[in-house]
Amino acid sequence: MITKTGTDIECAAALLRNGETVSIPTETVYGLSANALNESAVLKIFEQKNRPAFDPLIVHIKCKDELEKYAIVENKRVWKLAEAFWPGPLSIVLPKKDVIPDLVTSGLETVALRIPNHPLTLNLLEKIDFPLAAPSANLFGSASPTCAEHVLDQLDGKVSYVLDGGETKLGLESTIVRFTSSGPEVLRLGGLTIEQLEDALGENINIIRSSSSNPEAPGMLSAHYNPGIPVIMGNINENRKKFGHKKIGALTFGADIQDENVASFELSSTQDLEEAARNLFKGLRYFRKKNVDIILADWLPEKGLGRAVNDRLRRAAVANYT
Ligand code: TXA
Ligand code: MG
Repeated sequence: MITKTGTDIECAAALLRNGETVSIPTETVYGLSANALNESAVLKIFEQKNRPAFDPLIVHIKCKDELEKYAIVENKRVWKLAEAFWPGPLSIVLPKKDVIPDLVTSGLETVALRIPNHPLTLNLLEKIDFPLAAPSANLFGSASPTCAEHVLDQLDGKVSYVLDGGETKLGLESTIVRFTSSGPEVLRLGGLTIEQLEDALGENINIIRSSSSNPEAPGMLSAHYNPGIPVIMGNINENRKKFGHKKIGALTFGADIQDENVASFELSSTQDLEEAARNLFKGLRYFRKKNVDIILADWLPEKGLGRAVNDRLRRAAVANYT
């Protein structure tokens, strides 16, 4: 397979109609998409990214009217969130309708749905008459891609087309929400903050710290976002003393590291959480090119997008020990 890259929406639409996969830009990260209603097309997603079949996919729709084609909406708060945040970085888990193949949801009775906020992809969704199943366009377990080049790094020769929409605005995946009898729950922290959700709903949200042993969120493994290099969390300058004999990469957030032996990548020099979120996956990839032995990073403040960044760092750090 020769992978083409460009901004040709007609070409992307034709390939998708043919049951091929296409990488799509969203405001969060790039997705590896296929016709969600076509099982053999969806199977290609799992094969191309080595994704285990127990990890369900998010289904991308073009407008709110489509929600009830694919899911059962009984809770009014679902509409409230859809009104407030779609198109945007929010996936909502709902009881699924039969048209959604079991392969998409890994056999679950629920489906995660969202409307992505990127002009090219919204345009593409208008041109096709099916929704798009799309996980992040990376090999299973590694950092999500925030530009076309990252997609090609891992999926060149596998995916048929990369729709190049430039760098993604947010750089972190969508926040995943579901409603239970005890209230709203966040299954994955992401581009929409807890504060934004609580403001819109007027109630507290429970954050589920899921792991591989939590059957409610099969894909939210405790070890994920593996940069292929050990990640050590905590005070960077303290840890530099401990690991001084190694080639160190420092992922910094306003900390000034003046040491030419340390490869630094600044998440945000001004301690801006949005900027840090946007740069996180780029930073994790950067150190691979620098051939460092170890990545040192410090926790961000546990608020706003800082929470979602910390969540990714925690999983990247766990990856070393499992
Ligand atoms: O921002 C995003 O969400 C990106 C872009 C491409 O839209 N997509 C993305 O997909 O991050 P992925 O596959 O990398 O992560 C989807 C997560 C998985 O961890 C999966 O377990 C969870 O969503 N998920 C999907 N369907 C679910 C369901 N029915 N119940 C619980 N979790 C679900
Ligand atoms: Mg992913």
